[in-house]
Amino acid sequence: MFEGFAKVWTPLIVARRLGRRPLRTVLAGAPIVLFRGHGGAIGALVDRCPHRGAALSLGKVGEDGCLECPFHGWRFDVAGINRGVPLNPEARLETLGARALPVRQRGELIWVHTAPGEAAPPELEAPDSLTSPDLSRIYVERTWRCHWTRAMENMLDSPHLPFVHRRTIGRSYRRRMTPRSRMEVAWEETPWGGRARASLDGDHNEAFLEFYRPNVMALHIPVPGRHLRIHALVVPGEAGQTRLTVVASRDFARHPLLNPWFSWLNGMIADEDRSIVESSGLDEIPPPGQERSVGTDRATLQFRRYYWESLRPSAA
Ligand code: FES
Ligand SMILES: [Fe+2]
Repeated sequence: MFEGFAKVWTPLIVARRLGRRPLRTVLAGAPIVLFRGHGGAIGALVDRCPHRGAALSLGKVGEDGCLECPFHGWRFDVAGINRGVPLNPEARLETLGARALPVRQRGELIWVHTAPGEAAPPELEAPDSLTSPDLSRIYVERTWRCHWTRAMENMLDSPHLPFVHRRTIGRSYRRRMTPRSRMEVAWEETPWGGRARASLDGDHNEAFLEFYRPNVMALHIPVPGRHLRIHALVVPGEAGQTRLTVVASRDFARHPLLNPWFSWLNGMIADEDRSIVESSGLDEIPPPGQERSVGTDRATLQFRRYYWESLRPSAA
């Protein structure tokens, strides 16, 4: 389970999608059920009953805040602890639990740690721009047919902007580019991942992007005296599918009536990437020595190194 995506914190869904009913989702090929127990506490269990494998997401949450399996009625709390096995009063409940994933809500997102049963995971560190109550945020969701690593490195790739996004976020690069132009991509390691700055012909644009391991990108867009950031959360779903959530955070133009405009714009930019990324096929990114690379690939090569050294070491 979670081969190539193990022991990481990842955003999973926007919290408002989780209501009173259990919600099934697939993370890196593994079915996960989310539900809310007592006091709104969130449970994230492997969506497979330990008894006979039924999907717990077909069950319901009882008055006691436990998720009841639809097959024989076993009941699990948000920690996966078995709280009842009908018709078997002598059952040893402590041996009959479900597999729970560490789960947290931060801001408007639910995150899980891909290590079922891990009692003390490392602390989740989400970017402040995803959690601060002083910002307005919009969420745009897409599903792409590609391996998540292809989508993730697309988010770290500056030299595609004047081509794929020539009419939107790449327009200024496109306008200034000449046949002899040079783009420099600088990469700086940070405790959570890295920071990439791209400059065209020595013109240091103030924009930069940050990579939060394993699957979050935050693009800092310069607006004097203001906060404007676009995040891409790149989550592996079913085999061959990637769920992309674009989150734009801002501290200006905060009237909710403007949210649809921000959503439309960010959706359009994501849609510009889609067919290009999907055309790479369903396979994961290859190790850094494969495919041909050039100077402007510095940030994506860093991601490839991280992926093959940290997430896929057994296959390297
Ligand atoms: S399969 Fe879940 S209780 Fe039997
Ligand atoms: Fe793009």
